[in-house]
Amino acid sequence: MKVSYVDDKADNLETKIDKRKIRKKRSEDQSVVEGVFDTETQKTIYELYNRNILDEIEFVISTGKEANVYYAIGPEQDLAVKIYRIKTAETRFMWPYVIGDPRFKRIRRKTRDLIFAWAEKEFKNLNRARTAKVRVPKPFAVRKNILVMEFIGTDGDPAPLLKNCTLSKPQKVFDMILKYVKLLFQKAKLVHADLSEFNILYTDEPVIIDISQGVVLDHPNAREFLIRDLKNLLYYFSSFEIELPSLDQAYEYVTG
Ligand SMILES: Nc1ncnc2c1ncn2[C@@H]1O[C@H](COP(=O)(O)OP(=O)(O)OP(=O)(O)O)[C@@H](O)[C@H]1O
Ligand SMILES: [Mg+2]
Repeated sequence: MKVSYVDDKADNLETKIDKRKIRKKRSEDQSVVEGVFDTETQKTIYELYNRNILDEIEFVISTGKEANVYYAIGPEQDLAVKIYRIKTAETRFMWPYVIGDPRFKRIRRKTRDLIFAWAEKEFKNLNRARTAKVRVPKPFAVRKNILVMEFIGTDGDPAPLLKNCTLSKPQKVFDMILKYVKLLFQKAKLVHADLSEFNILYTDEPVIIDISQGVVLDHPNAREFLIRDLKNLLYYFSSFEIELPSLDQAYEYVTG
């Protein structure tokens, strides 16, 4: 018994080393930190290293319009690190989501501050969603334009987007997502405002991501955004042979 235990341990260690090698290779391929980030972002990354929030940024998972998302190793677990671009970010679209939000009344009209507020907003929204029992990545830290959160995936492979998944039980997945929209609205008092198959990851369950533009219910456009989210969901799931509520019914269910 004892021997087999030791063997298992050795096997595990070997697998771990192999995985690390693969990660290292991938990170070399993509030349991650140096030269990619501006000086201020590099400083913030080193601050996160020094505070033991991050051990190593390994490779890029996604390069989006406003942010890149990286796979990283943390002291306790794998991490996803979302780094909003300070310099080249397109920020005009952000204002309507920040201005109506009472949590960000004092923000100055400078791009840099807006980006920092945007990252903080995502962190706060993730926390609120988690408290309301909506499945989102657990947020660990936010510092300036960098958000550190739970990595959704296995062995360094990020979970696919809902839009790229073949669902064996689409009804169950739809019902679950609609329930999350309701919990977000009723318990977290938030509307996601960019919900679609592009912002939901799927492992063995749906995980809602990308909630920086999420607004509180006091926001003047909250209900309009909710209707847009519901339309996106209903449209996506209309290609499956499942029972779907009408838009009015879905709205009633979420808000009633
Ligand atoms: N916590 C996470 N775990 C694993 N992968 C993640 C995580 N968060 C984000 N990703 C990946 O990074 C991609 C971009 O993330 P997100 O949607 O939050 O950023 P974005 O700025 O909206 O990017 P885009 O402009 O591409 O939509 C996601 O589609 C997903 O593949
Ligand atoms: Mg997105």
